[in-house]
Amino acid sequence: MAKVEDVSFRYAGARDYALKDVSLEVREGEFLGILGASGSGKSTLCLLFNGIIPHSIGGEFEGNVYVKGKNTREASVAELSTIVGLVLQNPDAQLFNMTVEEEVAFALENFGLDREEMRKRISWALKLAGLEGLEKEFPPNLSGGQKQRLAIASVIAMKPEMLVLDEPTSQLDPLGREQVLSLVTLLNKEKGLTVVMVEHNTDYLLNFADRVVVVDKGEIILEGRPREVFEEVELLERLGVKLPASVKIGSTLKEWRLSKKAALNEKELLALLNELMG
Ligand SMILES: Nc1ncnc2c1ncn2[C@@H]1O[C@H](COP(=O)(O)OP(=O)(O)OP(=O)(O)O)[C@@H](O)[C@H]1O
Ligand SMILES: [Mg+2]
Repeated sequence: MAKVEDVSFRYAGARDYALKDVSLEVREGEFLGILGASGSGKSTLCLLFNGIIPHSIGGEFEGNVYVKGKNTREASVAELSTIVGLVLQNPDAQLFNMTVEEEVAFALENFGLDREEMRKRISWALKLAGLEGLEKEFPPNLSGGQKQRLAIASVIAMKPEMLVLDEPTSQLDPLGREQVLSLVTLLNKEKGLTVVMVEHNTDYLLNFADRVVVVDKGEIILEGRPREVFEEVELLERLGVKLPASVKIGSTLKEWRLSKKAALNEKELLALLNELMG
């Protein structure tokens, strides 16, 4: 789906490289989680996939990024946006139309769709995002979770194959977070979209990501299935990566030699606790 090949990037005027010799493949249909401390380079990595880096944000860019075989140096951001949808942290910064349906229509305007097809796409995307019935609503009146689902609806209306989400839930309350995470799961598991997601809710990644990479100071230092990555409890704690709650307890049980593994999910943890208590 996408391939990052030996990429280094330094923002114009910055002293240090934000990414250093990063290589990463994103497979079709997979759910890839990205973890790392603040300032490690997660957002910078996200901006590679639709060509915002190097087209809209300047700096020193080495290496190549391919999306569906297209080199992002050669393809435009507009062209790449039809393949890769980008969703950012702050939903307010992504919404600027008067109604919910206009917001989605706006994203489609440059597509040259006829009115009927446009209407179909809008209602399809809003339905999928659970926003049916809110078509005429003023976006600032929506809840945080609804706003972020609207941002996602605007992006999926373009029918991209891949979704890149940069901390989409970090500014939401628990209910909004839950809504957005369920939508992302649905888009990946049922609609087959490839997902790349920066997310601090590691419990969620443990359950739903196929693979996780950990970024530190611009480098990928750990990569693997969530089970493998979350087994590295000490390293993750040193990096300030929040452990899934079940893994935290699992790691204590491992220390006490009551479990072979730290990276247990909730179900496995409960089963083990049940067994231990006889
Ligand atoms: N526009 C910019 N100009 C200059 N330096 C930048 C710019 N954006 C980010 N940086 C620097 O690049 C490095 C990586 O930043 P990035 O935003 O990718 O990290 P992050 O992992 O997303 O952090 P956070 O968890 O806080 O969102 C940091 O040192 C940051 O200060
Ligand atoms: Mg960031």
